[in-house]
Amino acid sequence: MYRPISEEPKDTRRKISARDLRERKANGPKITMTTAYDFTMASLLDEAGVDVILVGDSLGMIVQGHTNTLSVSISEICYHGRAVARALRRTHLVGDLPFMTFQASPQQALRNAGKLLKRGGFESVKLEGGAHLAEHVYQLVRAGIPVMAHVGLTPQAIHTLGGFKVQGRTPDDAQRIIEDAKALADAGAYAIVIEAMPPDMAALVTRAVSVPTIGIGAGRGCDGQVLVCTDLLGLSRGHVPKFAKRYASLGDHTIDAVRQYIDEVRSGAFPDSAHEYKAVTSVARTP
Ligand code: KIV
Repeated sequence: MYRPISEEPKDTRRKISARDLRERKANGPKITMTTAYDFTMASLLDEAGVDVILVGDSLGMIVQGHTNTLSVSISEICYHGRAVARALRRTHLVGDLPFMTFQASPQQALRNAGKLLKRGGFESVKLEGGAHLAEHVYQLVRAGIPVMAHVGLTPQAIHTLGGFKVQGRTPDDAQRIIEDAKALADAGAYAIVIEAMPPDMAALVTRAVSVPTIGIGAGRGCDGQVLVCTDLLGLSRGHVPKFAKRYASLGDHTIDAVRQYIDEVRSGAFPDSAHEYKAVTSVARTP
């Protein structure tokens, strides 16, 4: 049954595992997931009660300012993972396997996913792609590494897909994505992100698989939702995708606050006595 997060008893807020998340398919509640890339943001998201934090390769765009995610490396994901991991009390931490760190073979996937757990503080890994990765997923899970799959729009394939485009619009395309999702779930993935699909198609995928689906731009029929934290909080400037609901306007608040700071420094209103240390009177009296 739905219960607002503010009413959740504090003593049940223990660390969430990949196994807990898989069980949400049958038992609910819906999974909530956001990205984070640093300690401060992760502390706030954990305190708010989000179930999963993803250190996504979206950090290439959000943190580094690139136009796509392709240049992100394993060591960059690990660097941000360590910062985020230090903040988490309850939230599950998943790390993205970046472009060309797993596609070549299950052995390459094992080597790099292992680095995410050993060096990045992650509790599971996410990889983008379809049924051709079933063997990779199987080998990772067998080695003790929980895997979240990612189908639909897979941004690492941007050059094959021809841009950040909605997927699964034709029956053939939708059928292929259903087959992908089933193969990945059968191989042992504990959850599947579905990105940028019409809601009816994402609902079909959700019904077809035994593990929870987590939608981003995939409608309300999924078993959970994920948003990039800067979109959710209104920190992103420029183009924001249609599905990315803003729950605050922290970008505008930041600009207002910094402008006020600039004005107060220039006018001499800051620092005032409330923001100064006590004067050392013997020094103050010295001529
Ligand atoms: O890298 C990322 O942030 C992601 C989410 C958008 C799901 O893959």
